[in-house]
Amino acid sequence: MDPVSGEEDGQDEDAPIEKLRFQLEMGVDLAIDETPIDRFAESLAAKEAAAQSAASKQATSNKSFSRETSTPAKGPTPRTNRPEMTIPDDKAAESAREIAGKAKSLEELKTSMSEFDGCNLRLSAKTTVFADGNPEARIMMIGEAPGRDEDIQGLPFVGRSGQLLDRMLAAIGLDRTSVYISNVIAWRPPGNRTPTPLETEICRPFIERHIELAEPEILVMLGGASAKTLFNTSDGILRMRGKWQKFRYGDREIDAMAMLHPAYLLRQPAQKNLAWQDLVKLKIRLENEPSEA
Ligand code: URA
Repeated sequence: MDPVSGEEDGQDEDAPIEKLRFQLEMGVDLAIDETPIDRFAESLAAKEAAAQSAASKQATSNKSFSRETSTPAKGPTPRTNRPEMTIPDDKAAESAREIAGKAKSLEELKTSMSEFDGCNLRLSAKTTVFADGNPEARIMMIGEAPGRDEDIQGLPFVGRSGQLLDRMLAAIGLDRTSVYISNVIAWRPPGNRTPTPLETEICRPFIERHIELAEPEILVMLGGASAKTLFNTSDGILRMRGKWQKFRYGDREIDAMAMLHPAYLLRQPAQKNLAWQDLVKLKIRLENEPSEA
């Protein structure tokens, strides 16, 4: 008996299609096995095998070339559409810092990030989610990483938590023309898993340069992951939220505050009163210290 459709196995030819449809409607967008597969080990083995086979072909063709003394056969250079699979390590973080540092504008940074292949998250993501809103805004808000809807649309905070974020902003008279929004991580982690510490370190130079180039007057970290990364702390979000701190970059120092993540508020609606207190603090800060520009 099928627990989903209630039909006896093998009775209905459409049953597999119905099961797939049911899974799609439930939001399943990734097939995973029960035991994890190390794709990096797989790709390394494939690379080594390809290198070995290329070396042995080269040796064979060298032999016949020297025997026949003819011109080597010309053929199309094999091409692949996939970026080279890399095994992320500290060097990837160094290279991200170098690349991010070279970007002289937000446009250049966006281009460099979409060409960067040092972060494995890019391989499973559909898009590089750079930013949304007004880059000239006084406030920059930074979340953790794109989810499914953000990956599809290529914009941060467009799914359910984005809709709640819009309502939170509206509650204090703001909208996406008065804030600039991005994420610590620009590529959706598969199945929305938590990014690993190494993935975060590889992406850190990009978001730090992003802040430097956007030059916001106020920074809001949405959720614990963003606050921990950007404040370099292991403190929990419930301890950090709602407190003004200084965020330093280059020779600048700006006001920064962590707030509860809208996705957390969707799961814990009773905590919305805490989010409201923090939004009021943000509004007071905006009104009491008018724009520096
Ligand atoms: N959660 C985030 O942290 N960022 C998004 O863009 C969407 C959901």
